[in-house]
Amino acid sequence: TTNGISRHFLDLTDFNGDELRAILQRARDIKSTRNGVRRGEGPLAGKVLAMIFEQPSTRTRISFDVGMRELGGETLMLTGAEMQLGRGETIADTARVLSRFVDAVMIRILSHDDLNELAANATVPVINGLTKRSHPCQIMADLMTFEEHRGSIKGKSVAWTGDSNNVLASWVHAAPRLDFELRIATPGELAPPKDLIERARAEGGSIVVTDDPFEAVKGTDCVITDCWVSMGDDDEEQRHNLLAAYQVNQRLMNEANGDALFMHCLPAHRGEEVTSEVMDGPNSVVFDEAENRLHAQKGILAWCFDAV
Ligand code: CP
Ligand code: NVA
Repeated sequence: TTNGISRHFLDLTDFNGDELRAILQRARDIKSTRNGVRRGEGPLAGKVLAMIFEQPSTRTRISFDVGMRELGGETLMLTGAEMQLGRGETIADTARVLSRFVDAVMIRILSHDDLNELAANATVPVINGLTKRSHPCQIMADLMTFEEHRGSIKGKSVAWTGDSNNVLASWVHAAPRLDFELRIATPGELAPPKDLIERARAEGGSIVVTDDPFEAVKGTDCVITDCWVSMGDDDEEQRHNLLAAYQVNQRLMNEANGDALFMHCLPAHRGEEVTSEVMDGPNSVVFDEAENRLHAQKGILAWCFDAV
């Protein structure tokens, strides 16, 4: 979790279940007292978070920006292209310079190695705002959302159907830590990396991998999917062909428990990975999930600054 100097939030695998639960508890506490904080008076007053986006974002960008302000801090919005990063300044030197100016850095960048390089050379906390490999902030919000609606996720079963991507990877990381079963359906061609699954199983995770979405979803407490084409993917047509059978529609939802939640990190592509019937249906909590990005990340920020 740290390079000896800073509290980085890079991956759920850097934490044990108790530590993740402590951050989630902080998030709930902050959420329950949300309206009390005045600008400039919050626990992060005087702190500046630099946000670097190498890829587009709606939720991550706005929730970190608003979250930081609601905690009393400020933000800087940057893109790689408008920094000297775009002209070849190294990630390591960028980390050293940013550490002299700001109190923390949140970055969305495809290369996970670049994220690690930034963290290794920063003397302020670095937060993973999505890489090609993982999306830990999203899964903190997802866990919070599940538990708000259904109580502890421990012992529950969660199904993922569709592509194997960064969001799934962070769900896999969470499974052994928070003790729930994860049932994954992807086409064989897009199966999750073996080492990801083997490591989670070695950590005690109960993970099922199949190519049959109905088998994965049967009897589960939550059904999750994500876009078929993630940022940085190029084989769009092939993915659409492979993934059509993994769509979350009412027929698939009917296989899950009657009160199974539907979750999606958004943005959704209605009519592709999910039908509007499911997304707007009674079991869908996708907009609570989006809102909880704000609250979960306040818990993460509080942890990074060892505040609140
Ligand atoms: N779910 C999520 O990370 O959304 P954005 O890409 O809009 O930030
Ligand atoms: N898997 C998606 C998540 C977007 C929030 C992507 O990487 O594009």
